[in-house]
Order: sequence, then C-alpha cells, then structure tokens
Amino acid sequence: MLTRDDNELLSRVGPGTPTGQMLRQYWLPCLPSADLPDADGAPARVRLLGEDLIAWRQTDDSVGLMQNSCPHRGASLFFGRNEENGLRCVYHGWKFDTEGNCVDMPNEPAESNFKHKIKATAYQTRERSGVIWAYMGPLANPPELPYLEWNLVPTEQVQISVRLQECNWVQAVEGGIDSSHVGFLHKWFGDERNERGVSNMYRATDLQPRFEVADTDYGVLIGARREAGDEGYYWRITQFLLPFYSMIPPQGVNPAIGGHAWVPMDDETTATWTVGWHPTDAINATNRNQNLSQTMRLVEQYGLDPNVAGVLPATTQPGGKWRPVANPRNDYMLNQQVQREKLFCGIVVGRTQDQAMQESMGPIYDRTKEHLGASDTAIIRVRRRWINSAIALRDQGTPPPGALEPQAYHVRSVSQVMKRDVVWAEEARRLMGVQPGKPIYAV
Ligand code: FES
Ligand SMILES: [Fe+2]
Repeated sequence: MLTRDDNELLSRVGPGTPTGQMLRQYWLPCLPSADLPDADGAPARVRLLGEDLIAWRQTDDSVGLMQNSCPHRGASLFFGRNEENGLRCVYHGWKFDTEGNCVDMPNEPAESNFKHKIKATAYQTRERSGVIWAYMGPLANPPELPYLEWNLVPTEQVQISVRLQECNWVQAVEGGIDSSHVGFLHKWFGDERNERGVSNMYRATDLQPRFEVADTDYGVLIGARREAGDEGYYWRITQFLLPFYSMIPPQGVNPAIGGHAWVPMDDETTATWTVGWHPTDAINATNRNQNLSQTMRLVEQYGLDPNVAGVLPATTQPGGKWRPVANPRNDYMLNQQVQREKLFCGIVVGRTQDQAMQESMGPIYDRTKEHLGASDTAIIRVRRRWINSAIALRDQGTPPPGALEPQAYHVRSVSQVMKRDVVWAEEARRLMGVQPGKPIYAV
C-alpha cells in the first residue's frame, strides 16, 4: 500500500505537481500523425498532463502545439483559422506561430508594438514514424526522441492504436506490468492456445511464477520465472521504461513485440497507446500475435455486437477519436454465458478486459486500501522509481532516469529458457539490445 501523501504525489500530473514536473522532463506521444492529416487542415484539441492545448499542422507540414485559450481574451483556438504557417483566432484575428509568438494583431493600431509583448504557452513537437511527440519541459534544446525501436522502424513494420481510458495513468501502467493477471483475466477455457507452443506450456504448468526485478538506467526489468524441467527456468522478461512505457515479452517463432505507452491526459483520463512492431518484417496477421480473429469467431458464435472492439463516432473533444464502444456505461459488454463457457472474465476483447479492471478501481485508486502480495513485486519497484524520481527532481533538480538519454531506450523485451545458475538480469541485458538484423529472443 501507499500512504495517502504518496498516492496523491504519484497520481497528480498537472502543472507544478512533483509527478507532473517529472513527466514533463520526457518527450510524450501526443497524437497519431493520422489525427492531424492535412497541412493547413482542421486544428485538433489535445489534453496533456492536465493542460488544454490545440494542435495544428502548418503550411510547411510542421506541427504547432499551444494553449487552447487565446491570450487575448480566452476564446478557443480550436475555431481558429489555420493559414500561412500560423493559427489565427477568429474572435479578433490575433495570429500565433509555433513558438507562441503573436505574429499579427490586426485589431490594434499599426504603430502599436503590443503584439511583441504577447507570448503564449507553446510546446515543441517532433514527428516520426506516424507519431507526433510533445516536449513540455524546461529545456530550450531538449534531447532527441527516445530510441524506442517502434519509433525507429519503417511505418509498415509498426502498428499503433490509441484508446481513451477513464482512469488515472498509474493504475493503467500498473495493470500493464502486472504479469500475474495474465493467467486469470485473459484466460480462455478449453482453448488449444493455452497448451500450444513451448511458452504456453510452461505458463500452463507453472501458475505461480516467481517475480524478480532489476533496476536499469531507464526503468525496471521485470523477470517472471517458471519451471522448465531439465532445461532450467523459463523467463519472461518485461521492460518497464520510464515514465510510462512497457514492452511485453515476445513469444513463438519470429514474433512481433508488443508494448504500451500510458500517457496521462489529466488526473482521471489516460491515452492508452498500443504498439506492435517487428524489427525486419512488415507487421501482418501472422506475426503480430493478436487474437482478434478468434475473438470475432466468439462474437459470431454468441451473437454479440460485431463492433465490440471498435470506437464510437469521432468527436472533436480531446481523445474524441479514441473512445471505445465497450466502456463503463455498458459494463464493457460483459456476457455471462461467455464467462461460463469460454472466457474466465466474460469480456470478449483482450484490451477491454484490462481496461475494465483498471477503470473499475475508480478514477484515482486509493492505495491506502490495497493489500500487495509477492506477485506485486514489480508494481512496488516501479512506484518507488516514480516517487524517487519525482522527489529528486523537486528537491535537487535531478533529471529523472532516461530523460536525457534517448539511447537507453534502444531495448527489447525477451523470453528465454535459461540454465538454473544463470544470472537472469545479466543474460537479459545481453539479449535485449537492439541491433540491425539481431533476432528477437523468444520461445
Ligand atoms: S480572443 Fe482571440 S483574438 Fe481576441
Ligand atoms: Fe492484461
């Protein structure tokens, strides 16, 4: 459990909060490029770390990101005219560039220099491999984007989707690094997938893996150890990368790797980015390791809504394109018959299963009430890294781990059988580095 103060410290992300300041030291995934498709096209509302912002793609294709509220008298720049490399407020015509400078003030006398005194809050952006990133931190020259492999491979080798999640970012990340729920929440009854393949066999035969954690420069290695008989131990090694990324261990032959980024929109809303990537091959139905076709067969068999994995009609509100059809208002489309016959939890889409559990804890979970066990080792360690990082920044000005070291993010997750006397974290460090042509280590 956490004290009330620590829980509060961890959960709040707005300007001036210790964790909010810590998060602002990192580049943040802001929008998929596809959400801002056209130069001089419609601006998009963005909410990031509790701030209401407006994003627009300029004439020269660069992306601006500034406060939504016009510095003149507060009208929303969502209604603004996106023209000639700037965003012009339609109320009185003030125009802004990507640095937040007022470059035109047509309702003031021509000889006035008032416009030079106006500076809006604006943030730097970068765009790579279909993702627009934002930097809300203090540095005029921030480091490069993190060398996450999914953000470096050609776009056909990566698959990205974003969903809005109605809860605090911490419980979403905690769900993502909590390996012990996988054998329960995501379990299919009588499905050959439970027994198929070496990794599934180890997972099926050892239901109480032992969890170990090791700190890294950028986060935490999370090892789940299972018995592998004469071979030794089967290790599934998840990466947690500060401030909010995970990489799930790959499995099978020539698999893609999956991961997440849980980006806080505000204290009670999170943008859940799901990524899948392959280092050498285009992403396809075989290597992306998703079970959507199996889910859709279930949908057909039980006469469920075929749009169960889809999104609601787009709105122009922040995250308005990312709202899942299955949500708390319809109990995530839980089906009791499916729960009795097919799935441990009865919610048919895998990611919705996670979403339902994490949101059902309430908008901001009160961790003074929880009871953590041995299977929660990773969660305990990651919380400690977050809290220590936020306090070190607040009290000593120390940049949090990885924030200034983009190269540190050039890693993969791993699953391997190792001899019993091998030091798993050392072996993992050997296997997990990213190099061109280096295979993914997975069984
Ligand atoms: S409120 Fe925007 S120009 Fe007046
Ligand atoms: Fe899960």
